[in-house]
Amino acid sequence: MFGVKMKRVKVDSFAGIERIRRKEITKKTREKVFHYLKDCSGLSIMDVGCGYGEYMAEAIKRGGTAYGLDSDIYQMALAHIYFEKLGISESDHHLFHHDIQEVFKKGKLFDAVFCLNVMEHIPNEKAALKNIVDLSKVGGRVFFIVPIGTKLSGKDDSEEKKKEKELADGCGFHVFFPIDFVNESIRSRGDKHIREYKKDELIEKLKAFSVEVVVNESFSALAERDNVCTSQLIVVRKVE
Ligand SMILES: C[S@@+](CC[C@H](N)C(=O)[O-])C[C@H]1O[C@@H](n2cnc3c(N)ncnc32)[C@H](O)[C@@H]1O
Repeated sequence: MFGVKMKRVKVDSFAGIERIRRKEITKKTREKVFHYLKDCSGLSIMDVGCGYGEYMAEAIKRGGTAYGLDSDIYQMALAHIYFEKLGISESDHHLFHHDIQEVFKKGKLFDAVFCLNVMEHIPNEKAALKNIVDLSKVGGRVFFIVPIGTKLSGKDDSEEKKKEKELADGCGFHVFFPIDFVNESIRSRGDKHIREYKKDELIEKLKAFSVEVVVNESFSALAERDNVCTSQLIVVRKVE
């Protein structure tokens, strides 16, 4: 497809693997992203750090062609399961095992690139940002979501976090995955944030690239509350 060598993931069988119920709260962030990308027909979309493919599936549902890459092989496996459950055939999605700190060698640029809840996991931020922006066509849009925490004034925010969790309970939706794969994924990537973003910090860092900011929205990702923003959605358009 891209005409250059890439690791394409194929998972053949999940027979006999125990399945668990896993609660997800990405509904809110998914709505945010697709508020700005309602009709995906004719668009090619690359999801960097695609995880189990939640956003890719939505892009496909809206008529787009979805590509995804992730450095975690277990997340790739979960994506295969997720797509199979949704009846999305292998020919309709394109998954690549790749670490975005390395250049993604491709013969294709994308109309939209997602990097959602990923930057906070990546040690080499500068290289990753460059490689992500480089995936976009000129005129294409790059969507970032980063957590900006509930620390509003440098005070202890444990009460805020507790409240957030309470409000989030019962929200979202459920997906079913093999427990071994979920556990292996968490074990191998640690599931930790290696950096905290302050509000607008990523926007400052994106000034090093040929992009213009078209959306800058802070919101509460877990539950609706006034004046408490836990995530920032930044959409930039590539200008050259
Ligand atoms: C918190 S999850 C977010 C998944 C999805 N984007 C979402 O918002 O639901 C972070 C994802 O980024 C992936 N990731 C972390 N570092 C990465 C890297 N250097 N290159 C590619 N993917 C990476 C992880 O494996 C994981 O699937």
